[in-house]
Amino acid sequence: MNRERVTLTGPQETMLATLYSRALDSRERHSVLRDHWAETAVERIDYDFGRTGINRATAAGVALRGKLLDDWTGRFLAEHPGATVLHLACGLDTRAHRLGPPPGTRWYDVDHPEVLDLRERLLPPPPGEYHLIGASVTGDAWLDEVPADRPVAAVFEGLSMYLREEDGKRLVQRIAARFPSGELLFDCYGSFGIRLQRLVPAVRNSGATLHWGIDDPYELESWHDGLRCLDAVRSVDTPRLVDFPVPGRWSLRMMSHLPRVRDVGRILRYAF
Ligand SMILES: C[S@@+](CC[C@H](N)C(=O)[O-])C[C@H]1O[C@@H](n2cnc3c(N)ncnc32)[C@H](O)[C@@H]1O
Repeated sequence: MNRERVTLTGPQETMLATLYSRALDSRERHSVLRDHWAETAVERIDYDFGRTGINRATAAGVALRGKLLDDWTGRFLAEHPGATVLHLACGLDTRAHRLGPPPGTRWYDVDHPEVLDLRERLLPPPPGEYHLIGASVTGDAWLDEVPADRPVAAVFEGLSMYLREEDGKRLVQRIAARFPSGELLFDCYGSFGIRLQRLVPAVRNSGATLHWGIDDPYELESWHDGLRCLDAVRSVDTPRLVDFPVPGRWSLRMMSHLPRVRDVGRILRYAF
């Protein structure tokens, strides 16, 4: 098999950790996502996945986070036929493949151009109206490519922590100002998690730096008129914890009782 050599570094490299997590989860008997596209992609990439430091427990954590964001996105699409999805920092995530968006959905996968190059070589496009935009989400022009006429679900997993707070704020404000209504669905680190970033092998080994931590999800409501926080789920309390391999389950249970530690990460849902 012709394998793709990957030489990405920094935040771009970290998408291999989340991809690998979904591939490992997919091999589990009680897989959360059953993402066989991730498994196939991993087999086709020439890369030392040991650098990610991902194990069965951390893989399950990534899969559960992905599942919650999938469920929220799917629910939004069911309630808003013909909506637009902005899937930012898509990396090699096959969210559109997993969800099979209803006909009439407009789906945009956005990430840095070099990431999308690799994506196009490794993954088939999902069915339906599908677009790729190669750009940094902190840039000005990319959002103009997306028609502003429909409700939007902006879903971004594993992105906010790589942004500086002022860039995250601007992103939230630009999306909320552009579309008639919508939801923002994303995960974040808390400031304690940002302080502990060197303990995360995928971050340390890629040379990436995490910047933005959110301790009070409700603070963002003041960033745009009508922005409301609907859900703020601690990562340590992710629904379906029962899917976790047993040793990981115990450490999560312990973490969920420790102040500060239990706020290392959250999965957030806002409406506007
Ligand atoms: C941890 S990975 C997550 C990838 C994917 N969401 C997943 O869950 O597999 C981080 C991703 O954020 C992307 N990223 C980081 N900063 C970005 C920016 N300013 N604009 C667009 N993408 C960015 C990286 O290229 C990488 O694909």
